[in-house]
Amino acid sequence: MQSNNQCNEQPEVFANISEFWSIQLNNEIYLRNHKNVVRGSKQYFDIILTARKKYLYYLGDVINYLKTIPSRNLLEVGCGMGTDALVFAKEKFHVTGIDLAPGHLELAERLFNLYHESGIFRYGNAENICFSNQTFGCVYSLGVLHHTPDTQKAINEIYRVLIPGGRAVIMLYNKFSLNNFAHWITRRGFENAKGQTDAPVTQRFTKREILAMCSNFHSCNISVEYLFGAGWGKFYDFMPRYIYRFLSKWIGWHLVIYLQK
Ligand SMILES: C[S@@+](CC[C@H](N)C(=O)[O-])C[C@H]1O[C@@H](n2cnc3c(N)ncnc32)[C@H](O)[C@@H]1O
Repeated sequence: MQSNNQCNEQPEVFANISEFWSIQLNNEIYLRNHKNVVRGSKQYFDIILTARKKYLYYLGDVINYLKTIPSRNLLEVGCGMGTDALVFAKEKFHVTGIDLAPGHLELAERLFNLYHESGIFRYGNAENICFSNQTFGCVYSLGVLHHTPDTQKAINEIYRVLIPGGRAVIMLYNKFSLNNFAHWITRRGFENAKGQTDAPVTQRFTKREILAMCSNFHSCNISVEYLFGAGWGKFYDFMPRYIYRFLSKWIGWHLVIYLQK
């Protein structure tokens, strides 16, 4: 284990990221049509969990991939409020979550208490993961490493903490996607918080860039998913599912990266 001092040393950009994501609780987009729901209540989490199940339709594939190795020791990098960690815990993974935003971590602990699951949640930085080499059989990180300045460093850290043969799934935003194009045309930010225009860091990647960044791994397969999500409002519900899935595979916003060390 690295010393705590080393792990807690943070350049200013990480303080900004931490502050932004403690205010901007990304899952609260699902509460747009629900008035007076108390943050952290059972009703709050029920609505969010139901919505994530609907929009993150590929999570089952991720779980199946990670389940094919015997180790159930899983690290989630950038766990947010722990909604996916909860799904993993229910699937009998031993979950540890790290995140830079204390506001998110507090909610993750509350979520696990409410749903009677056990997990460990800690303040931690993807670019300097505070665990020894080869600690985890599985690492999962969804929608996080494009919000950190040095994504390559974070991917190297994931490689370091995985056991030989261990598996990781990482989701990064796709540069060649309908959603990126729409945001470029409309000049809208990707993650809006009250009083702020966008997250301190939001990067987009190509498949080729990702293959280069993950070249240390024994295998790297990328699946393109998720044409758009709840931010597109009624468009999502009106579009026939088969068209949505077809276009997702072509110009989807999520590059889902399946890795083996
Ligand atoms: C869009 S949210 C995604 C949260 C969660 N994975 C989910 O899907 O709901 C991005 C999260 O990444 C975290 N994050 C950003 N940079 C990070 C870093 N360098 N280390 C750890 N967490 C980070 C933020 O604090 C925030 O909780």
